[in-house]
Amino acid sequence: MHRPLFIVIEGLDGSGKSTQIDLLRDYFQSHGTACHVTAEPTDLPTGKLIRSVLRKEISVDPRTLAAMFAADRIEHLFHPEVGILAKLAAGYHVVASRYYFSSLAYQSEFVDPGFVASLNSLAKVTLPADLTIFLDLEPEVSMQRIRNRPGEDELFETLEKLQHVRESFLNAFTVYGGDENIHHINAAGEINQVAEAIQDLVNKV
Ligand code: TYD
Repeated sequence: MHRPLFIVIEGLDGSGKSTQIDLLRDYFQSHGTACHVTAEPTDLPTGKLIRSVLRKEISVDPRTLAAMFAADRIEHLFHPEVGILAKLAAGYHVVASRYYFSSLAYQSEFVDPGFVASLNSLAKVTLPADLTIFLDLEPEVSMQRIRNRPGEDELFETLEKLQHVRESFLNAFTVYGGDENIHHINAAGEINQVAEAIQDLVNKV
């Protein structure tokens, strides 16, 4: 763990990404290592626009939404202050909730996967993650966790869609991530067990 690492946590809604990302940040900090936590959609203007689509305040063609996620990802990568590349250059490990595999998984329900892949080719060429961890969870469990969570339902949260998204994730890792360092962890386990499994993988990069 000498050079700054770019670590991506992927998973269905409700798979525990936020909890595990917080624990990973604590782990880095307890070892005296600087860590920047980030997420897509971002809090940048591009990400805010996406949130208003997810909240159904505005409506766009699914291809436009796919392009919006890709545009937000470009901002996320290249933003001069808060961008992933800037943070890595400043010596931080970067831990991101979601990256281009989320686009392949979610947008391919509505949009040709080849189109989604082409929109994301700049990100893949520029910065594939050093480690991508898929927090894998049965869609039924994911649905249950989402139901128990306060807040509005977003666009993707039905059981049928979650099943499709999980299959799309698995397919995207095979088709689009064959040359990358991707690991699956069963996210139904105890929080601390999952956290330790993540730490083991990070220590092997
Ligand atoms: P997120 O805030 O990670 O949701 P959650 O915390 O519920 O997991 O992401 C919001 C939604 O955006 C989520 O349903 C997945 C979707 N999404 C895409 O459809 N494509 C993408 O490229 C990304 C990054 C997210």
